[in-house]
Amino acid sequence: MKEKIFIGVAWPYANNELHIGHFAGALLPPDIFARYHRLKGNDVLMVSGADSHGTPVTVTAEAEGLSPRDVVEKYHERFITSFETMGITFDLFTTTMTENHFSVVHDMFKRHLEKGLIYTEVTKQIFDPKSRRFLPDRYVEGTCPHCGFGEARGDQCDQCSKTYEATDLINPRSKVSGTTDLEVRETEHFFLDLAKLNEPLITWINDDEKSHWRPHVLNFTRAQLEKRDLHGRAITRDLEWGVTIPVAGYEGKRLYVWYEAVIGYLSATREWARLRGEDSADWERFWKNPGSGEGAKSYYFIGKDNITFHSMMWPAMLIGYGGLNLPHNVPANEYLNSSGRKFSKSRGNAIFMNQVLEKYQSDAWRYVLTAIAPETADADFTWDDFLGRVNGELVANWGNLVNRVLGFAYKRFAGKVPEPGEIDASGQELLAAVRGGFEKVGGLYEAVKLRSALEETRALSAKVNQYLSEKAPWTLIKTDEKAAATAIYVALQCIEWLKVLWSPILPVSSQAIHGYLGFEGQLAGHLERKEVKDAHGKHLVMMYDHRGASGTWKAIELAPGQALREPAALFKKLDEKEVLAESGGDFK
Ligand code: MF3
Ligand code: ZN
Repeated sequence: MKEKIFIGVAWPYANNELHIGHFAGALLPPDIFARYHRLKGNDVLMVSGADSHGTPVTVTAEAEGLSPRDVVEKYHERFITSFETMGITFDLFTTTMTENHFSVVHDMFKRHLEKGLIYTEVTKQIFDPKSRRFLPDRYVEGTCPHCGFGEARGDQCDQCSKTYEATDLINPRSKVSGTTDLEVRETEHFFLDLAKLNEPLITWINDDEKSHWRPHVLNFTRAQLEKRDLHGRAITRDLEWGVTIPVAGYEGKRLYVWYEAVIGYLSATREWARLRGEDSADWERFWKNPGSGEGAKSYYFIGKDNITFHSMMWPAMLIGYGGLNLPHNVPANEYLNSSGRKFSKSRGNAIFMNQVLEKYQSDAWRYVLTAIAPETADADFTWDDFLGRVNGELVANWGNLVNRVLGFAYKRFAGKVPEPGEIDASGQELLAAVRGGFEKVGGLYEAVKLRSALEETRALSAKVNQYLSEKAPWTLIKTDEKAAATAIYVALQCIEWLKVLWSPILPVSSQAIHGYLGFEGQLAGHLERKEVKDAHGKHLVMMYDHRGASGTWKAIELAPGQALREPAALFKKLDEKEVLAESGGDFK
């Protein structure tokens, strides 16, 4: 049976270029997962977009002297460029500035309000008398009340990831004027009554089978919920930029970016259905029928600082709304650091994806960022390690194998898959092992153990190398052509299967191998960008089109006599000096 797989990817703030940490942590894993499920023939929808509101965007706009909309449009376009080059196959990558998003958010807000899950309260907020404005979220910094980190923001601490109210900060200071001479003033806001949703959330986190969750995500979520002290969280702010509040009398305020951005998963699904020109009710198949076995399984790929919002806030909002699917899994990643330090623009050690894609192949990045994926602990990127993994693993283990075997078959067997003789025990054993990868590696992709999926596939590729060094068809051909043909046939068959096993991680090279082996067609679909118009103006989207894709997660028998195409080197071997020079500060 076809499974329905919904994949939500954390919406990156459109206030900066994406760096390799964003890809390792949140953007590449869901793409690998989506590609695997599409090969399986499942019904996949992967959506996200530019997180366009909130103080991350307005602070940048003020710093760059641009309007918030211009900032979003500038970075959104850069995001799409990097996804096209890296092959991140979003079915839809949009923004939260669309009319559609506003209306889906308004609908949810009104439903929460009607059901008594939203209330208003006059609250005390930090006010900067010098710049005469309230200081929500990133406009104020201070010492974290939980861990003592000195540069904690108004809504969340970058060090311990805890969330709190800005008034809880110790020694707050204004990011606008720099003053510490701050006042606390009264202003009315809407609150989401999480206290009422605490019990339903506990039921959800405990009743459902959750053994497939990553322990660090599940334990953190359970521990928070079981304290039974969830309380109302302010979901509006004194700001001008953001999604409006659909209640008269609050024209000067906006919804808190986190309340509306998570609703993007739902609004993007609706936008996708509309843009696809499919039945507009089509979005429902990814959201309705929760718990019936008919409904989709939804996965949320995020970094660890987003766990609270995806394992508590968003589920609470969905429960409050009613009738929609709750997360099936939230495979949050830890952080990727750079030579032991957090990527940071101000420290100048951020490695921007668009920039390094100009020099190095996308499959090389996809390989390395998967090999070091921070799945269970923080991981570290160094250029030295990048060099070692590309040249010592990707090229040595897989690229050379493919090029040697295909090159030899093409030259010595008249450009055709040779007719094998009888395949001996070691050949049979190898074929069985690689064929078994469909089950074993498939299970790892399915369980979102992408690092292990890569390691297992690499181990299978190594087995083929070992078989070839034992058989040495290159010398055998001089004395026993049939035996050489058999060994090459076995190796080609393994390469055909490994091509599929590798393809979620290495789509470009797998497509090349597909062609060298003499097949026609595209294993995966293609990406396209479109300008779309609505009542909020024009916006750019990127969409993935799966039509015409022919890849399947199946062991296809290679036909002797099939015409091959002349192969070219799959991967560029890296120049050691050039790569090591990168760490010298080229990316400041
Ligand atoms: N913009 C947030 C970040 O970069 C992630 C938002 S995820 C969403 O941390 F679902 F809320 F959009
Ligand atoms: Zn902290």
